[in-house]
Amino acid sequence: MKQAKDLFQEAKDFIEISYKELGIEELIDERLLEIELQIKEDGYYEHTYEELVYGAKLAWRNSNRCIGRFFWQTLDVVDARQYKTEEEVYEALLFHIKTATNNGKIRPMITVFHPNLKTDCDIRIWNHQLVRYAGYEYEDGVIGDPASISFTKVCESLGWKGNHTHFDVLPLVIQVNGGTPKWFNIPKELILEVPIQHPDYPGFKDLGIKWYAVPMISDMKMEIGGIEYQAVPFNGWYMETEIGARNLADSFRYNLLPKFASIMGLDISKNSTLWKDRALVELNYAVIDSYKSAGVSIVDHHSAAAQFKRFEENEARAGREVTGDWTWLIPPVSPAATHIFHHSYEDKLVLPNFFYQDQPYEKDKG
Ligand code: ARG
Repeated sequence: MKQAKDLFQEAKDFIEISYKELGIEELIDERLLEIELQIKEDGYYEHTYEELVYGAKLAWRNSNRCIGRFFWQTLDVVDARQYKTEEEVYEALLFHIKTATNNGKIRPMITVFHPNLKTDCDIRIWNHQLVRYAGYEYEDGVIGDPASISFTKVCESLGWKGNHTHFDVLPLVIQVNGGTPKWFNIPKELILEVPIQHPDYPGFKDLGIKWYAVPMISDMKMEIGGIEYQAVPFNGWYMETEIGARNLADSFRYNLLPKFASIMGLDISKNSTLWKDRALVELNYAVIDSYKSAGVSIVDHHSAAAQFKRFEENEARAGREVTGDWTWLIPPVSPAATHIFHHSYEDKLVLPNFFYQDQPYEKDKG
């Protein structure tokens, strides 16, 4: 918890900015008095529903690493602050998965659980994303997603058992008030997945590769007006490079470039054939083609960069500066073919925002 003085100052900054943008400046003074009183009495204050909604949108708008910010105003905000038990949180997460997936027409969405205030309830979601594949380490290699190895072990130690395929969806792990977390399986029919195919290389499909439809980050915290929300799962839709140039391609993830290059008949014995680059482009093309054929929202990196340009223009028109983290904004495929590569951005922290937080299951490692 923040000191009352800092908390009030941060609340004031947030209320002033958001009420001005919302065109309700005349309510600022009265609201600040109320907040000041609440902080004096309880040591914290509570956001109204409208403040929560606009604060979450601002947190997205200020996310320096996100190329998708053109859509910040369209965020669906679910106020889930009334849920206190693991079972209630689980139901709210299923609602999020179902509503955000929307049969493939993905909705950008955030579900906001109760913030960790003083004596009140402390909710933590242990998953990195609501839907993610398990990873199992064997002597001769990894089955599944190597990025999930440590969390998969945590799930197993809690009593969960996976099928040890490359694509086992991990359970939801929910912790309330620092107790032993409870895990829950996600009903299969709620998890939309996309088989990866390539229109010109039938061999791609035969590999049996797939990816899930919706990236729902669930381990970050959101700070609005000095209040920290530790459980705020949120999602947009994928940009194809996240899957095609990273999750499936990184040598420390699914490492599929050599397989794809072989299917394409490329000579992988020499760097100078550019087999990695050529396989990367076709793998990214396969991801786009697969999501589109499955009716699942996805954006290619050129369109995403063009949308980001429009975001920059909108912000300039509103008299605001766009902050950004260039190293994250440039796409990992053909970065110099987008305008972002040729610009510079100031990586300055503006609040509200999202932050990394310690993984609760690594806390005891000392
Ligand atoms: N890069 C992460 C992944 O591949 C997802 C991050 C959020 N991405 C998004 N398009 N909102 O799973």
